[in-house]
Amino acid sequence: MNLPNMQNAKKRTNKEVLYIYDNIKSSSIFKDKKYYIKTYGCQMNVHDSEEIKGILENIGFKETDKFEDANLIILNTCAIRENAHDKVFGFLGRCKHLKKEKKDCIIALCGCMAQEESVVNEILSKHKYIDLVFGTHNINELPKLLVQKQEDIKINVYSKEGEVIELGEIYKRDSKYTAWVNIMYGCDKFCTYCIVPYTRGKQRSRKSEDILKEVEALKKIGYKEITLLGQNVNAYGKDLENEMDFGTLLEKVSKTGIERIRFVTSHPWDFTDKMIDVIANNDNIMPYIHLPLQSGSNRILKLMGRRYTKEEYLELYRKIKEKVKNVAITTDIIVGFPNETEEDFNETLDVVNKCKYDGAFTFIYSPRENTPASKMEDSITLEEKEKRLQRLNEIVNKYSKENNEKYINTYQKVLLIGESEKDENKLYGYTETMKLVNVECSKDLIGNIELVKITDAKSFSLDGVIENA
Ligand code: 5AD
Ligand code: SF4
Repeated sequence: MNLPNMQNAKKRTNKEVLYIYDNIKSSSIFKDKKYYIKTYGCQMNVHDSEEIKGILENIGFKETDKFEDANLIILNTCAIRENAHDKVFGFLGRCKHLKKEKKDCIIALCGCMAQEESVVNEILSKHKYIDLVFGTHNINELPKLLVQKQEDIKINVYSKEGEVIELGEIYKRDSKYTAWVNIMYGCDKFCTYCIVPYTRGKQRSRKSEDILKEVEALKKIGYKEITLLGQNVNAYGKDLENEMDFGTLLEKVSKTGIERIRFVTSHPWDFTDKMIDVIANNDNIMPYIHLPLQSGSNRILKLMGRRYTKEEYLELYRKIKEKVKNVAITTDIIVGFPNETEEDFNETLDVVNKCKYDGAFTFIYSPRENTPASKMEDSITLEEKEKRLQRLNEIVNKYSKENNEKYINTYQKVLLIGESEKDENKLYGYTETMKLVNVECSKDLIGNIELVKITDAKSFSLDGVIENA
C-alpha cells in the first residue's frame, strides 16, 4: 500500500515509548477524558483492544460504555471477510451523527481495515469526519498521535512491521481469571484467500523469556488460565535465531505451574509429534485444540495454499485423538472457494463426518483485496454457496450436540468466569475441553475451578450443578 504519510515503522525501544507516555500523562491533557472502544473480529483484536485501553488509561483517559459520553471513540476493525467491513461502516454512520452535535469528539479507526488501501482511500474521500486512522503496527504510538491530531495528519499507517516492542503489563485485561498472552504477531503462511499476512505483516515471535515472564507475573496476581495467542502459534520461534520451538515453549509455560494453559490458532502443517506429546503429558495444558481444516478437497487445499492433504490432516487428527486423552477438537471451514465443485464440497463433508468435530466455525468464502484467490475466476453462485453452508452447518451442529450429550452425568472441572447473560441465577464457565457450561451456584464461586455435574446438553452449551454446594 502506498499512501500519503506512509512509512515504515520507526525503530523505538520500549523505554522511549514509555517515556513519551509519561510526558503526556504529566501534561494532564487527557486527564478524565473518556474513551469508548468497539472491537470487531478475532481474539487478536480483542487483546489489541486490551492494550489500547491500557495505553489510554496510562495517559489519563477513563473508559465509558456510553458512546454518547465519549471524547474519543475507537473502532478496532477486522478485515477477514467483507461483512466485517459492512458492520464497521454501519457503526461509523452513528459516529458521523454524533460528531455533528459533539464537534470535538475524536473518531479513530484502527485494526486490520486500517491496513487496507481501499478503506483508507474511502475514508479520505467519503468519511471526512474520521479524525485518525492508525494501523496494526503502531498501536504504541496512539498517545503521540492523539497529541499531534491538531496538525491534521489523519492517516498514520505503516506498510511494514517494525520490531516487537515490549511495554510490560500495560494491558487493561477484560478478565481477572483468564488472560491472553501474545506469543507472536503476523503470519507467513499466505493462504491464498487470507488478508492477514498483508494487514498484520510477517511473523514476529516474542522472545520466550518475555513470554515466560508475563505468564509468571499473571500467575502471581491470581490468573488461573492463560491462552497463548498468535495467528499460527505452532510456527512460534521460526523467525528468530536460537529460539525454542512451540513444543518447548509450551513445556516451559507448563512448568510455571499456572493452572490452565490454552493456545490458538494452530496450522496443521506446523503441528509436530513433539507438540502432541507435550500436550498429552502435561495436565495443565488443556485438552482442547482448534485445528482449522478450511477444505477437505485436495484440489481446493492446493489452491488455498494450505500445504497439507486431506489424508495428512486426517492422520494428524487421528494422532491427536489417540494421544491426548478426552481431547476436544474444533475447526474452521470455508465453503464456496472459487470454483468449488459439488465433489470438492462432498470431500469437506467427508472429513466432517470422519472427525465429528466438537464445533466448527463455518464461512462462505469472501474475496479479499489483493489476495491471490480474489483474482481467481468463480462460476459458483452465491445461492449455491449459501445452500452448501446450510448443509454443512446442519451436520456440524449435529456432531456438536452429540459430543455435548456425552458429557451428561459426567463431572467436569469448570473455571467459573462470571454471571450467565441469560439467567442471573447462574454462572458461566468453561470445562477443560472449552465447553461453555451454565451452572446453578453461588456467585461467590466466580474465579474458582469447581467440579460440576453436567445435567443437560445443547449444541453450543452444557448445563450443570455443583453437588453438595
Ligand atoms: N473468506 C472466508 N473465510 C475466511 N477466513 C479467512 N479468510 C477468509 C476469507 N477470505 C476464515 C478461515 C480462518 C478464519 C479465521 O476465517 O476459516 O481460519
Ligand atoms: Fe491466514 Fe493462513 Fe495465516 Fe491463518 S495461516 S492467518 S488462514 S494466512
